[in-house]
Amino acid sequence: MNNPIKFKLNGRQITSSVLGGQTLLELLREQLDLTGTKRGCDAGDCGSCTVLMDGRPVNACLVLAAEVEGKEITTIEGLGTEGGLHPLQQAFVDYNAVQCGFCTPGMILTAAALLNENPDPTDAEIRHYLQGNLCRCTGYDKIVRAVRAAAAPQQS
Ligand code: FES
Ligand code: FES
Repeated sequence: MNNPIKFKLNGRQITSSVLGGQTLLELLREQLDLTGTKRGCDAGDCGSCTVLMDGRPVNACLVLAAEVEGKEITTIEGLGTEGGLHPLQQAFVDYNAVQCGFCTPGMILTAAALLNENPDPTDAEIRHYLQGNLCRCTGYDKIVRAVRAAAAPQQS
């Protein structure tokens, strides 16, 4: 059965019909064409589907679409502005923290939540916060450097 829900998506209030059992990941990718949110494991293990829900990182494959009624969702498409990249996006480019790019949207959104909570994290804190986001390519060092640079560009 189709149910209408209202929520804020990337700064805009929207209404969408959702099916019972439909996940937020399915809603974003298949109905709203926001394919920056990636489907990896579809089981809560890889973090590639990470979006922000009321500012907190969640695995969109584990959240029912119906649960976002009244919430604020931010996907990678909502992070930068028309004028330019978000500082984290720019830092990932500058520090070569993107290889295949599959983990990158989720990694950047998780890092954005970290920097909102803790604007000056240590490397250990960055690694700990990002532990739910898996990357098969980079070995993580460049990602940690990029997050640190975005947090404190004057020290990089
Ligand atoms: S696709 Fe959601 S955690 Fe892997
Ligand atoms: S850049 Fe390929 S999985 Fe992270």
